Amino acid sequence: QAADDYQQMERATQFFSYQLRKHKKAPEVIEYLKGRGLSGEIVKQFQIGYAPDGWDDLLKSLAKDQRSRDQLVDLKLVNRNDNGRYYDFFRDRIMFPIRDRRGRVVGFGGRIISGDGPKYLNSPETRIFHKGRELYGFYEVKQAHRSIEQVVIVEGYMDVVALAQAGIDFAVASLGTATTTEQLQMLFRATRQVTCCYDGDRAGRDAAWRALENALPLLTDGLQLNFLFLPDGEDPDSLVRQEGAEAFKARLGEAQSFTQYFFAHLTETLDLATDSGRAMLLSQAKPLIEKVASDYYREELLQELARLLRREVSQVAGQMKAKAAPTA
Ligand code: CTP
Ligand code: MN
Ligand code: MN
Ligand code: MN
Ligand code: MN
Repeated sequence: QAADDYQQMERATQFFSYQLRKHKKAPEVIEYLKGRGLSGEIVKQFQIGYAPDGWDDLLKSLAKDQRSRDQLVDLKLVNRNDNGRYYDFFRDRIMFPIRDRRGRVVGFGGRIISGDGPKYLNSPETRIFHKGRELYGFYEVKQAHRSIEQVVIVEGYMDVVALAQAGIDFAVASLGTATTTEQLQMLFRATRQVTCCYDGDRAGRDAAWRALENALPLLTDGLQLNFLFLPDGEDPDSLVRQEGAEAFKARLGEAQSFTQYFFAHLTETLDLATDSGRAMLLSQAKPLIEKVASDYYREELLQELARLLRREVSQVAGQMKAKAAPTA
């Protein structure tokens, strides 16, 4: 059953890829991709394709019998409406196959080219696709590097592909969700340094803090988690095309450390010159610091906290313990 699911997803990938070469609308789609700076080579590497604008092109091509049609429904490539009619889930979209760690296609992201509807449509969860457990581009990063020095986490498909096009071939995307603990765990098994680089907007900044929270229990000694914040309105795709790979790498080199971002965020709205501001910082930082897995990072956070509170480290550490201990 499962093996067959992967085969069917592979067939769909080939179908979309073929359509990008042969469909009557293909030249228009290729123009669009070129306009976004992508070469034919990178399109091939990520196996980007095109879902035609008809209602049942994929269905006709892949559903050989009742069983394979039901399977396409299970894999969410085909929908069934209330009248019992079957139709393609992805229509008139640029298709990004999402591969699992082992390179098997488990889902798709589809970007609209024109008309209305959501800009991106993703495969819903299926028996082989669990969004929070996959990372777009991770397989490709592993293919490109025997030993992975660092990974950058971005929001979108186009960010991953545009960075790879620019030669920054170590980016993955967390599929529109906040980066989960599971995704961070996958990455930290493969590399020691991860940089979160989300869009320069409200959603991107919120995603960064959620990633930090999700990383607290994973961050062991020797691992590095950094945060790169982009100028307002930019995302990695727009920025790397605007200023080039070297400038983007320079930004990565100057990303905020975990500890820097931790306090920058917590103190953003506090006045540390006041007693109440400092008390607020202590009460907000404490439960988070207690979740940190690494002695090294807990110590570093504690030292910075003490500095900001204008206290001795031993005093702050004592306070943390006193409040953490069950009352007698
Ligand atoms: N996303 C999604 N559904 C949406 C919008 C976004 O799943 N309706 C996810 C997709 O994975 C997308 C990522 O969030 O790749 C980033 O979204 P966004 O920043 O809105 O995309 P843009 O950068 O604007 O897309 P593009 O560059 O293609 O215009
Ligand atoms: Mn490389
Ligand atoms: Mn965005
Ligand atoms: Mn974006
Ligand atoms: Mn974008």
